[in-house]
Amino acid sequence: ESTTELDISAIQPGQAIKAVFRKQPLFVRNLTPHEIQQAEAVPIDTLRDPQTLLERTKEGHGNWLVTMGVCTHLGCVPLGAGEGENRGEFGGYFCPCHGSHYDTAGRIRKGPAPKNLEVPSYVFTSDTHLVIG
Ligand code: FES
Repeated sequence: ESTTELDISAIQPGQAIKAVFRKQPLFVRNLTPHEIQQAEAVPIDTLRDPQTLLERTKEGHGNWLVTMGVCTHLGCVPLGAGEGENRGEFGGYFCPCHGSHYDTAGRIRKGPAPKNLEVPSYVFTSDTHLVIG
């Protein structure tokens, strides 16, 4: 299966972009220190799909959240990867189809989606380049 290389050097803190991986939307987000703090402050046992931010990011690159841009409810593309868009009640992503709210770690917090946004397999080939898949 094919891989996708991404240059993430232009993504500013607080910004998220939408890319394409294997014909599906992929979100890459540069988390601010405040967004990281928000994600880390959540007690794991209160989560529907319990995962820490640390488990969803790569060591040494903890500010980069890479997820599929596919809602785990019925597959719509959530909002929030793009400036000025609705990021939902938890500041991450918001799926307008049936109202699923994801937090700054891409974890489901409210609404019908059963799972966190999927983290695809990827590696950092440098501080500014990713290879997905
Ligand atoms: Fe996202 Fe239903 S597809 S909430």
